[in-house]
Amino acid sequence: MISLRRATAEDVDWLLALLTDEDTEPFLGGQRALDRESIGAEVERSLSEPERFGRLIVESDGERAGHMGFEERSEVHRIAHIGGLAVHPDFRGRGVADEAARQLQRYLLIDLGFHRIQLKCYGFNERAIRHSERAGFVREGVERKAYFRHGEWQDAVLFGLLREDLNV
Ligand SMILES: CC(C)(COP(=O)(O)OP(=O)(O)OC[C@H]1O[C@@H](n2cnc3c(N)ncnc32)[C@H](O)[C@@H]1OP(=O)(O)O)[C@@H](O)C(=O)NCCC(=O)NCCS
Repeated sequence: MISLRRATAEDVDWLLALLTDEDTEPFLGGQRALDRESIGAEVERSLSEPERFGRLIVESDGERAGHMGFEERSEVHRIAHIGGLAVHPDFRGRGVADEAARQLQRYLLIDLGFHRIQLKCYGFNERAIRHSERAGFVREGVERKAYFRHGEWQDAVLFGLLREDLNV
C-alpha cells in the first residue's frame, strides 16, 4: 500500500539522511542544497504554498519509504517540474517508485490542474530512466552534456507527461 503525504517538520531529519545517503546523493542534481536548514525551509514552503511547491513523503504500509518533490515552473503554461526523487535503499526494487510516480502524476495533472509535468535524469542514471519509462513518462529527448557533475559533462534525459496522456 503506497501513499503520498506532505512532509512536515518531523520529517526533516529523515529527509536529510535519505537525500545525503551515498546511494542517493550522487544521482540528484548537483545544485540541490542538502543541509538541515535548507530542507526545513523547503518543507515549510511546501506547507505554505501547496499548489506551487511540494515536498512529499512516499509511504509504504505507513512507513516512510521515499521522497518526491515538485515546483511550479510556469504559472502561465501550467508546467510543474518534478525533482528530488528518492526511494530509501531498503525499499528499492519492489515498484514503490513506480506506484508513487503514478500517484504524483494524477495529483499534479488532475488535482492541482497542471497541463504538463516534466523531469530530468542524468544520462548515467539507468535505474531512474527505466523507472521513468515504466511509470508512463514520455521520453522527450536528451540535453547533451548539459550539466557538470562528478567532474564531467553529463547528458540529461528529459521526460514529460501531459494531462491528455492520462487515460482518465
Ligand atoms: C530511481 C529510484 C527512485 C527508483 O526506485 P527503484 O526501487 O529502483 O525502482 P522501483 O521502486 O520502481 O522498482 C523497480 C524495480 O523493482 C522491480 N520490481 C519488483 N517488483 C515490482 C513491482 N511490483 N512493480 C514494479 N517493479 C517491480 C522491477 O523489476 C525493477 O527492477 P529493474 O529496475 O532492475 O528493472 C531509486 O533507484 C533511487 O532512489 N535512486 C537514487 C536516487 C535517484 O536516482 N533519483 C532519481 C533522480 S532523476
